[in-house]
Amino acid sequence: MSLTKGLFVTFEGGEGAGKSTQMRLLADSLSARGYRVLTTREPGGSVGAEAVRHVLLSGAAEPFGVRMEAILFAAARSDHVEEVIRPALRKGIIVLCDRFMDSSRVYQGVTGNLEPAFVETLERVAVNGVVPDCTIIFDLPAAVGLERARRRAANDSPDRFEKEQLETHEKRREAFLDIAEADPERCRVVDATRPPDVIAAEVRELIEALLPRLGEPGPPNAEAAS
Ligand SMILES: Nc1ncnc2c1ncn2[C@@H]1O[C@H](COP(=O)(O)OP(=O)(O)OP(=O)(O)O)[C@@H](O)[C@H]1O
Ligand SMILES: [Mg+2]
Repeated sequence: MSLTKGLFVTFEGGEGAGKSTQMRLLADSLSARGYRVLTTREPGGSVGAEAVRHVLLSGAAEPFGVRMEAILFAAARSDHVEEVIRPALRKGIIVLCDRFMDSSRVYQGVTGNLEPAFVETLERVAVNGVVPDCTIIFDLPAAVGLERARRRAANDSPDRFEKEQLETHEKRREAFLDIAEADPERCRVVDATRPPDVIAAEVRELIEALLPRLGEPGPPNAEAAS
């Protein structure tokens, strides 16, 4: 099934909130119904961005400060948008992305204490008009998410961001909720403490509501500035 114009959905929230799990479930369900679906993730998702991902998640850029990290995230995002996301949307593909610009607003902006104007400028340059049609924010207490993430990766050491204090993770939860409140058209908050299948049903319903609209002719909604 081809949409006249793709649909761009991003999955956001703290560590262990179930973003990757739910993205997979939604992709399977849409693919089974014949939709063309692309799943991708940040940081990464394109050849250039995956190269930068390692630098960011290993903590190699951390000593150079949060501005440096934020610029690297933006560089990776720009490559991902131009090489992968925009071309897929143009082909009418549904793009599901595990973390996107809201993670930068929260991790580098709010808990990284970067000036809002700096974060906004980087965002504008990196997304270059490719704003998500829908952002699903998976909400749960930080302690629950961290425990899930740790159990999953029992043998791995925590990455650059996982190892931060619980208080920082709680601040991020609040920041994601603030984003949702400020942009209710784009963002939907989902209670991520429930069983995966219950959450998946709600996510399917949310996306279902957006699919018919895309079949209608009208102004493109994901590339407004391009
Ligand atoms: N609704 C749920 N209830 C209980 N456990 C869950 C639920 N959803 C996912 N999990 C489990 O919690 C762990 C984290 O889930 P997942 O990897 O999907 O989260 P994530 O948001 O992608 O995390 P990260 O930010 O670390 O990438 C996994 O082991 C997963 O199986
Ligand atoms: Mg994940």
